Amino acid sequence: MCKRVFVTGGCGFLGSHVCEYYMQKGAQVVSYDNLAKHEIERTGFAAEKARNYNWNYLKGIGVNLIKADVRNAEELLDAAAGCDYIIHTAAQPAMTISWEDPRLDITTNVIGTFNVLEAARKLKIPVACCATIHIYGNKINEGLKESKTQYIREPAGIDEKYPTLEGTLTPLHASKAAGDMYVRVYIDTYKLEAASFRLTGIYGTRQFGGEDHGWVANFSIRSVLGWPITIYGTGKQVRDIVYATDICEAFNAFYVSRKAGIYNIGGGKQTALSLLECIDIIEKVNGFRPEVQFAPERHGDLRYFICDTRKAQRELGWSPQIMPREGIEKLIAWIKDNRGIFSAKA
Ligand SMILES: NC(=O)c1ccc[n+]([C@@H]2O[C@H](COP(=O)([O-])OP(=O)(O)OC[C@H]3O[C@@H](n4cnc5c(N)ncnc54)[C@H](O)[C@@H]3O)[C@@H](O)[C@H]2O)c1
Repeated sequence: MCKRVFVTGGCGFLGSHVCEYYMQKGAQVVSYDNLAKHEIERTGFAAEKARNYNWNYLKGIGVNLIKADVRNAEELLDAAAGCDYIIHTAAQPAMTISWEDPRLDITTNVIGTFNVLEAARKLKIPVACCATIHIYGNKINEGLKESKTQYIREPAGIDEKYPTLEGTLTPLHASKAAGDMYVRVYIDTYKLEAASFRLTGIYGTRQFGGEDHGWVANFSIRSVLGWPITIYGTGKQVRDIVYATDICEAFNAFYVSRKAGIYNIGGGKQTALSLLECIDIIEKVNGFRPEVQFAPERHGDLRYFICDTRKAQRELGWSPQIMPREGIEKLIAWIKDNRGIFSAKA
């Protein structure tokens, strides 16, 4: 069991769950986050309140909070000293922002990840980093079949040997793939105990999903507020969505097993659903159908991804536990309890 965990991006969605997870395990937790606002300001939510929510939440449960930047190597190394595990969730995670501000994207995702790996190497501690399934690229879109509600691929699951960066690329593809590649470089060259998790769509409480990333939360929040939902494309896009606490279990499984490498982390076939099917679940949970409008597909959009998670099961002993209906109920209950952070009028 690790005693002191260092979480970059601790005030973000996934990072806040990692902090909470290790606090519940009795560890000391340090969150290192610069409280970036690039995405939250585009959501139409009450941006200041939303941005401070996770900080205040973590303060309330006793997390040691440091407001600082992963691009600052010295500060990062100082702050991580004395910790025995780094979980790197800080990122510029949105494709849209990556092409609007490619410098922000490369410095955060590439230099930031490099600084984290250097800190882990110097401190001789294990590190888990967050990549994304987007690094496989959207050539996967070619050759999909479709049913009334979703895109279909045979075989369904995609494993870690699938070629990366095929199809139409954006700066985010390059920066996240570079971070993933640097993890492999540090494993091979310095024998660092490191893992790169290529994560599928994640959802859960404390997620302020805009249209840029986090669509389950975006749809759920807008449905509760009575705002129309925009679907880009047909709505048949598929993801094997995974609840945030399941990802925390995967990080911990890596700390225990120390099997360094690359892992596809998603719910697999059992949690896979399309945007249209997600709307159906939201309707059942809320008891009414949200208003939905359609807009053209966006540059770089990926129509399909379901992880083959057999490597994570074999090497880490990990498999997802929370199914979409249960997870979406938790998310919607939290949104209803916290309306005021989304709508300035609430
Ligand atoms: N949410 C998803 O569905 C999803 C899917 C695949 C991969 N991922 C990856 O998981 C990780 C976490 O994603 P998330 O959804 O929690 O994102 P998020 O935007 O909610 O959280 C990221 C946090 O990093 C912080 N941050 C940004 N730049 C920073 C910097 N320069 N220095 C310090 N902190 C900085 C932000 O302030 C924010 O609190 C990211 O690497 C993302 O690419 C997320």
